[in-house]
Amino acid sequence: MRLAKYLAHAGVASRRAAERIIEQGRVRVGEEVVRDPARDVSEREVVTVDGATVKAQESGLAVYAVHKPAGVVSTASDPQGRPTVVDMVRTGERLYPVGRLDAPTTGLILLTNDGDLAYRLTHPSFEVPKTYRARVKKGPIPDRALRQLREGVRLDDGLTSPARARRVAPDEIELTIHEGRKRQVRRMFEEVGFPVASLQRVAFGSLALGALPAGSHRRLNRAEVAALTETAKARKPAAKRARPSGARH
Ligand code: URA
Repeated sequence: MRLAKYLAHAGVASRRAAERIIEQGRVRVGEEVVRDPARDVSEREVVTVDGATVKAQESGLAVYAVHKPAGVVSTASDPQGRPTVVDMVRTGERLYPVGRLDAPTTGLILLTNDGDLAYRLTHPSFEVPKTYRARVKKGPIPDRALRQLREGVRLDDGLTSPARARRVAPDEIELTIHEGRKRQVRRMFEEVGFPVASLQRVAFGSLALGALPAGSHRRLNRAEVAALTETAKARKPAAKRARPSGARH
């Protein structure tokens, strides 16, 4: 396994952060300082970061579904001291949020102890579908706006990709997108003339929020984790495809 991936799997850091740690010369394989994140390491080799031995992941792959309430932030820590989604799941594991939801957005966010899986599930080239329920401030929403949402909306960082949109109430739309630009759903609705009053994510990839109560979480079972892992394997990151600036969901 590549060294950066090994560190991410062991819960040391996300894969990108692990690459930086390696490039800074803080990682040794055996006695040798290794600065190449792609260097292959085997389970038998001893890997250290800043002199501390990294244990291969012991608890196995864990993925949690969290129903984020409004006001909770989805970063691992918040400089303003607001509660985080990671605070909501106290298992003793080092957990990474899979992407981001804005603080006022509610609904499904995943946490995992596998930084590599978190990276793959959020990288734009895997195009994992995310479904949101958006209630707008002033309905009803006309067919014209639905068509625009489906066909693509011109935002300041470019045209959005085709999306699925269906009306669930006169002032509420279920929207499925495959991208993850910053505040994308809110900006799409603003652009078509119907600012969002409330936004909830109801599905991420193969997983639905279902009846999970707000503020609670559950560990996914093996079949659910396998389905998500498959999603993250479905596409290879395309070398030439540009990552939209601010991509994060
Ligand atoms: N799009 C948004 O605008 N906000 C979110 O939290 C998620 C997607």
